[in-house]
Amino acid sequence: MKRLLLLPLMAIMVMVHAQDKLVVNADLGTTTINKHIYGHFAEHLGACIYGGFYVGENNTKIPNKDGVRLDIIEALKKLKVPNLRWPGGCFADTYHWKDGIGPKASRPSMLNIWWGNVTENNSFGTHEFLNMCQQIGAEPYLSGNVGSGTVAELDEWVKYVNHPAGSSPMPLLREKNGHKEPWNVKFWGVGNEAWGCGGHMQAEYYANIYRQYTTFMSGTKDARLFRIASGASDGDYHWTEVLMRDIPRNLVDGLALHHYSIIDWSKKGSAKDFTEEQYFKIMKSATQMEELVTRHSTIMDKYDPKKQVALVVDEWGGWYEVEPGSNPSFLFQQNTMRDAMIAGVTLNIFNNHADRVRMANLAQTINVLQSVILTNEEKMILTPTYHVMEMYNVHQDATLLPIDLKSGDYQFGNEKLQAVSASASKDKNGKIHISLVNIDPAKQHEVSVDIRGVNASSATGRILVSPKIQDHNSFQDPNKIAPKEFKGFQQQGNSLKVTLPAGSVVVIEI
Ligand code: AHR
Repeated sequence: MKRLLLLPLMAIMVMVHAQDKLVVNADLGTTTINKHIYGHFAEHLGACIYGGFYVGENNTKIPNKDGVRLDIIEALKKLKVPNLRWPGGCFADTYHWKDGIGPKASRPSMLNIWWGNVTENNSFGTHEFLNMCQQIGAEPYLSGNVGSGTVAELDEWVKYVNHPAGSSPMPLLREKNGHKEPWNVKFWGVGNEAWGCGGHMQAEYYANIYRQYTTFMSGTKDARLFRIASGASDGDYHWTEVLMRDIPRNLVDGLALHHYSIIDWSKKGSAKDFTEEQYFKIMKSATQMEELVTRHSTIMDKYDPKKQVALVVDEWGGWYEVEPGSNPSFLFQQNTMRDAMIAGVTLNIFNNHADRVRMANLAQTINVLQSVILTNEEKMILTPTYHVMEMYNVHQDATLLPIDLKSGDYQFGNEKLQAVSASASKDKNGKIHISLVNIDPAKQHEVSVDIRGVNASSATGRILVSPKIQDHNSFQDPNKIAPKEFKGFQQQGNSLKVTLPAGSVVVIEI
């Protein structure tokens, strides 16, 4: 008899224990989530620039301003893109910026050796990029050529775009090319993947080269330079250790890190036709960002306890096989709810590490890897990743609120991952935003949210979800996936009972 009574009680206890719990400390935040965490990346690769952003001034079929698609400008304005990295990537260390200025007819061509050996005619160069950033309202982030360039070349690029009119030959050349006033570009990458396509250098060698290049990059009173050293790939902690040890603090403002969510470089799997096993592996790789950011930050803390140098994750996202029939060098891939999960969990990680991660760039904006926009001639679609970035832009420059999260597992075979991820912030108007992701593709998760430290007013929410994790928008069905009003929660004062559907991203506003 006793046993019979005990069993249901235990079952209830297990159910309650299994419920996920989130405490949001609404009165405790001190760190700002730098809006630059929500940055993007545009490389001369496949159809990112040509056929993506830029369709040419003489295009009469696609509405454009100075050759840049107007529908794309509008979409990116809505996204509140804070910064845009250009021209690469690997391309950056082959790029000679002087080839991309002056009358287009006389600009020399080159072979794009990293991305399919296609001819680059340099019709989209410095002026086109910087003017486009102004249209979008994004700050430019220029990646300098260290691998095959020279110190003088990078020094002159800085002068060309930043130095006051009439002050020296480079600003005079800029004026001759139709732009009298400087653009005042703050963000500068000093090489890219110096350990790989940027020159296959060793950390010690690159640290010295970096010191040399940055010595001659001159800021102005209107544009203090924010110099970003080419950083580690994934878990290469030696790279971070050496750069932090060997580069003096006054020469560096940011240290990069690249991490792609990938199954296996030799077997990447389809972007949209994938199994749950492949899904799990990608989630494992995406959530590894937590460990990477934590461990690189720990090394940085050792040399820079005041956290003056930012960790800049200037390439991240999912990387799969290209779409069947497309050029393998162009890295064109579809974008599904799986990518929405990558975006949601990654941005939560960045938010929660906002003290050190102060800039990041999703790879890449249009038609390449985990894009926010795909184009096909005059058609354009917004991907699930776009929608997550748009839902999360409420966190830009808001105060990070410390959270305490206990989540159940997403179990696959003998392996498991934390199912729910979250981050929270308070914006300038006092609004609190909580972003929640449930990566479990089959089970909903109940999360009891306790907002402490304020009197919570009534909450509203938005959700991105679709019946299958493989679902995506297409040119035939462009709005299959879009954010909707979220009604799956009950509020009682400062407590919310939230039901997160399988494979969903939710942002709650209070
Ligand atoms: O984003 C595609 C490529 O990935 C970049 O050019 C390079 O930096 C990285 O290896």
